[in-house]
Amino acid sequence: METKVYTPDEIPAAAALLTAGQLVAFPTETVYGLGADATNVDAVKQVYLAKGRPSDNPLIVHVADVETVERFAQPLSEAAKKLIKAFWPGPLTMIFKLQPDALAPEVTGGLATAAFRNPDNDATLALIRAAETPIVGPSANTSGKPSPTTAQHVLHDLHGKIAGILDDGPTKVGVESTVLDLSTDQPAILRPGAVTPEAIEQVIGMPVQTELHHVGATEVPKAPGMKYKHYAPNAQVYIVDRSEDWPQALAWAAQQEIPMGVMATDGILTNNLIPANCEQFSLGDDIQSASRKLFAGLRHFDTETKIKDILCQAFENKGLGLAYMNRLNKSAGQTHFSV
Ligand code: TXA
Ligand code: MG
Repeated sequence: METKVYTPDEIPAAAALLTAGQLVAFPTETVYGLGADATNVDAVKQVYLAKGRPSDNPLIVHVADVETVERFAQPLSEAAKKLIKAFWPGPLTMIFKLQPDALAPEVTGGLATAAFRNPDNDATLALIRAAETPIVGPSANTSGKPSPTTAQHVLHDLHGKIAGILDDGPTKVGVESTVLDLSTDQPAILRPGAVTPEAIEQVIGMPVQTELHHVGATEVPKAPGMKYKHYAPNAQVYIVDRSEDWPQALAWAAQQEIPMGVMATDGILTNNLIPANCEQFSLGDDIQSASRKLFAGLRHFDTETKIKDILCQAFENKGLGLAYMNRLNKSAGQTHFSV
């Protein structure tokens, strides 16, 4: 299959593919998604095949308006309405209880709930409206790999496996949406993202559970996706926790005498002597740019340099840093450079 790349001027053609049950990757403000008509079971099954995704990991339903959510979900709570008003379109996915048999088990992983999201990307909102159907959209990467933040990343993983890609340039946020479970009495964040727990608490005026769920072998995870290996580049990533650890981390890298990757902000890169065997990838100058560039950096070292070891900068575990560190910890398998 030839994967055709569409510009935002060609939305009707891309939408026609979705209506015909084909897969079309789409841009959002967070990462690129792999789109299929959420009401077409055969199309949804193709999503799992193309990604190599375990079939019990449910998908997010992307909508262009709240009315579509109301068609599938049970009546929305006051808290849900406030959050929709405050954060949609935007990087907040919300899990609601469904009306009986509202969506196929292929979408929900057999759960009585589903995740809904109204992405902040005009081309994709126009695509959903033109296709006249909500679209499922997991991140458009091969399962286990870093999520794609450009159309080129999507092509790298899925070329020949999907009918089309709507290319709207690099994504703005870079880490996937916050997943908030509103199907139980206490709202709980299942995956941190750019919409922070504090921002949610401020809007709904009640506490949000943010405990990281530790998933044992027999425990059923709340977000099924959390039990799978994620964001893993081929290289081994070492997290460098504090800025004062960099001189020693770089001295260690120099001793390795093999090509190494260094992912850090400009401050770190200019204030330290980078050894000759280390290739730099700048994370920009703050947590926003680092989140936007994290997955691109991991992919850069895998596909363009084949570097086997990467040192990568940690950020404080708060605000957007919660999301960044959640993804970085998974890509490093919790491996830290220790002084
Ligand atoms: O930013 C994003 O959310 C991107 C863009 C494309 O929208 N999408 C994305 O989808 O990251 P995916 O499939 O890679 O991650 C969705 C996460 C998974 O961890 C999944 O298990 C969880 O949401 N999830 C989906 N439906 C759920 C449900 N009903 N209950 C609990 N967790 C759910
Ligand atoms: Mg994903």
